[in-house]
Amino acid sequence: MRDERTADVVIVGGGVIGCAIARRAARGGLSVVVVERATPGMEASWAAAGMLSPLAEANGPGPFLDLLVRGREIYPDYAAALREETGVDVCYADAGTLFVALREEDDEELCARWRWQSAAGLAVERLSASEAREAEPALSPAVRMALRFPGDHQVDNRALGPALWSAAARAGVRFRLGEQAVRLLRAGNRAAGVELAGGERIHAGAVVLAGGAWAGMIEGLPRPVPVEPVHGQLLALEAVPPMFRHVVDSPRCYLVPRAAGRVIAGATVESTGYRKAVTPWGVRRLIDGAVEIAPALEHAPLAETWSGLRPGTPDGFPILGLDPEVEGLVYATGHFRNGILLAPLTGETVGGLLCGEPWGAEMAPFGIERFREE
Ligand code: FAD
Ligand code: GLY
Repeated sequence: MRDERTADVVIVGGGVIGCAIARRAARGGLSVVVVERATPGMEASWAAAGMLSPLAEANGPGPFLDLLVRGREIYPDYAAALREETGVDVCYADAGTLFVALREEDDEELCARWRWQSAAGLAVERLSASEAREAEPALSPAVRMALRFPGDHQVDNRALGPALWSAAARAGVRFRLGEQAVRLLRAGNRAAGVELAGGERIHAGAVVLAGGAWAGMIEGLPRPVPVEPVHGQLLALEAVPPMFRHVVDSPRCYLVPRAAGRVIAGATVESTGYRKAVTPWGVRRLIDGAVEIAPALEHAPLAETWSGLRPGTPDGFPILGLDPEVEGLVYATGHFRNGILLAPLTGETVGGLLCGEPWGAEMAPFGIERFREE
């Protein structure tokens, strides 16, 4: 039996990011241990809405948009591979996204988005109000115009977490569940493993910090990891027969149609520390936003409410790659609003890095050194 206390790589955090990296590294021949203090995939990765939306999420061209687009490109094959490996269908759905203007002030936001996206050669279509309502008849008569992003899709993130966990386990990854990593172990300027809350040490030549909003909370790190929790509340409504085909986004709310007529409405964006709570303020905001998009939702049964903590960074971009000083210490956190979209790409790139593959120049903008104090 392999010793649970040594590995080539120890990964702190078993969300979609940690599991995707673990899967890739193990498939590359490394021995990998994931330390997860609770259940894999049950924090932000479970709470998310599952949109794969580079065009709705990026605010302009640049390395971040390029990263999101690359993340989106590999999704169909990745979802098929997960299904093959585990039997779990992550419900990749490719009906596209509609971004709708419902108020006069929304028009400028959509027009500006359309200008830079079409100038950048991205797949975006501009729809009149009648074209938008033809595409989605449940839309409010107040709709003024819409953008259609035919390539922005969705998955069921509550299936993605278990699929990645299972795929990693099948690739040979060992999971230490219910264990909290509390300290980075170092041997001089090298990462040497982690210490668990009970005092046990897991020795490894590489340590990956993939703890989502909690990634900076272990002792012994060479620098602050500027990740903060950004609270998001969501709710689900039952709309049978199904009301939408597309994901529908407005400047105030998004609606994600799921199987069997369930519609997810999200999400608030709040800086409330590590407190997760569904509040009357949040529910009111989401219901107002959902009903503004589709008035018929006012009478739909409220099925579920929940919330989660996005791992936010000061610039909204993830933190990926090696520490510039401590050899073997790797960051994979700060995926903020796009960790479901980016999990496959982060898994492949960071997992590949652990296996000795080159770290492309396109990844350089996401290094932790961008936060270095002058
Ligand atoms: P998490 O899923 O939070 O996992 C981190 C894990 O690390 C946890 O399981 C935790 O228990 C563990 N951990 C932390 N510290 C330790 C430690 N010291 N020891 C042991 N274990 C530890 N993204 C999209 O792409 N599309 C969306 O539509 C979308 N919608 C979202 C909506 C909301 C409301 C929220 C909250 C997020 C949304 N996201 C979306 C973002 C996405 O969910 C996150 O970016 C992604 O899940 C981050 O994954 P992660 O693995 O880094 O973090
Ligand atoms: N990407 C959607 C959200 O973070 O709410």
